[in-house]
Amino acid sequence: MKDILEELERRRGIARLGGGQARIDAQHQRGKLTARERIDLFLDEGSFEEFDMFVEHRSTDFGMDKSRIAGDGVVTGWGTVNGRTVFVFAKDFTVFGGSLSEAHAEKIIKVQDMALKNRAPIIGIYDAGGARIQEGVAALGGYAEVFQRNVLASGVIPQISVIMGPCAGGDVYSPAMTDFIFMVRDTSYMFVTGPDVVKTVTNETVTSEELGGATVHTTRSSIADGAYDNDVDTLSQVRRLIDFLPQSNTSPVPEIECYQSVTDADSSLDTLIPANANKPYDIKELIQKVADEGDFFEIQASFAKNIVCGFGRIEGSTVGFVANQPMVLAGVLDSDASRKAARFVRFCDCFNIPIVTFVDVPGFLPGTAQEYGGLIKHGAKLLFAYAEATVPKLTVITRKAFGGAYDVMASKHLRGDLNYAWPTAQIAVMGAKGAVEIIFRKDIADPEKIAAHTKMYEDRFLSPFVAAERGYVDEVIMPHSTRRRLARGLKMLRNKDLSNPWKKHDNIPL
Ligand code: HXC
Repeated sequence: MKDILEELERRRGIARLGGGQARIDAQHQRGKLTARERIDLFLDEGSFEEFDMFVEHRSTDFGMDKSRIAGDGVVTGWGTVNGRTVFVFAKDFTVFGGSLSEAHAEKIIKVQDMALKNRAPIIGIYDAGGARIQEGVAALGGYAEVFQRNVLASGVIPQISVIMGPCAGGDVYSPAMTDFIFMVRDTSYMFVTGPDVVKTVTNETVTSEELGGATVHTTRSSIADGAYDNDVDTLSQVRRLIDFLPQSNTSPVPEIECYQSVTDADSSLDTLIPANANKPYDIKELIQKVADEGDFFEIQASFAKNIVCGFGRIEGSTVGFVANQPMVLAGVLDSDASRKAARFVRFCDCFNIPIVTFVDVPGFLPGTAQEYGGLIKHGAKLLFAYAEATVPKLTVITRKAFGGAYDVMASKHLRGDLNYAWPTAQIAVMGAKGAVEIIFRKDIADPEKIAAHTKMYEDRFLSPFVAAERGYVDEVIMPHSTRRRLARGLKMLRNKDLSNPWKKHDNIPL
């Protein structure tokens, strides 16, 4: 019996070495951890249960029958993050560059199926060279099986991808269909075709970093939702994100103990809005003062900074914050901001996370660049996302809510549940200057008349009261009471029961 146990331990030892010590050392020299080290760091200590440690590829072409390595380039299984079950797979770059074979795909598929069946999040860690070139169509088929499961799981369980090395070819599309992608700065990159193919086809010379590094994907393409400095930091941030998320679309949002009073007034908020309506202020200050202990996990912090999206908690329960940012482009809605926020709102709605929206928006961004770039369709995405969302929607207009952007930003008319305005709110079709220049065009040459018209317009329309008179805002609230009002509102809305008409699926303007 002892021999049998020793044999198991021996085989486990070989499997754990993956592609061998030399390749593990090379991995470390590049500042990267191995697949197993990443899983150990990511999961609660000692919680990892591995599957399929001894799976090998079945390929015989190109001499592959002579090189079989237990595990076949991916480590799979499940464990816990702060006590809650998650499923995980991590590509092992030391084994055939983490490339995907038929057997490798079957291992991923197994954990995808288990995660879906057991309604728990799945996290994929990528460090791989795409399809196993020696396997041909078997690898392509394997990818498609993975993609199909990504789609079926979308909106049912949270799916998160962490890019910690190369992620090329077939490897990019599975992350692209998951809810969030995080990257490691300097050591990770994602692209469909690498620099060599780019050179051949388009004659462009680019480095991997320039083509698909973390900076590109967090600031330009918006493929990635965040980037961190190293493997350790990245994995700990993903753990932090998971703490905010429910296990599935039928699980409640996680609740943790809240150590900060929700009844204390925060008088600093009464002076957050500058006296001059054109002066910016940082909307993140409001988010941090409303969220428990100022804990805010921002999504896409470096992209479309004119809108801020992320998770926080109010009285211990997760909420999604969406807020126009007056510090960037005066908080205007453009195509990028609309797409970014629409995706976030839809994620929250999928997973029953209430949405708190802070509004200070001068409208949609004018110009040919925006119109040619499809502003109408992109803006409609955000409008569509808010309108279809059935989760509790709480809105606070802090200052400007002009034009179509007023409608879009979780207005009462889009089934906002609680729509509050600060006394500093200005809810109108447009700002005073533009309005007066249109309505009183005949007086444009007379500065005195224009000043008088402007004053009249400002007095009548640039306040929350015209909207409040119609019930479009439920209450004009004191800024210092915002956290308390939202906390009470969220409690009141806990049993909200609203559903949309039956449909196969909607047709959001993609
Ligand atoms: C088989 C692979 C491999 C692959 C890497 N390796 N990629 N083996 N299939 N796709 C192996 C290498 O042979 C090498 O083996 C080891 O992994 C490490 O690779 P290196 O090239 O030495 O590492 P590095 O210099 O860091 O470069 C990493 C890399 C590069 C950028 C990922 O290996 C590369 O460009 N690989 C090919 C990428 C690619 O074109 N993939 C196919 C995409 S097509 P040894 O034994 O020497 O250690 C695709 C289509 C699917 O994916 C579409 C589905 C929708």
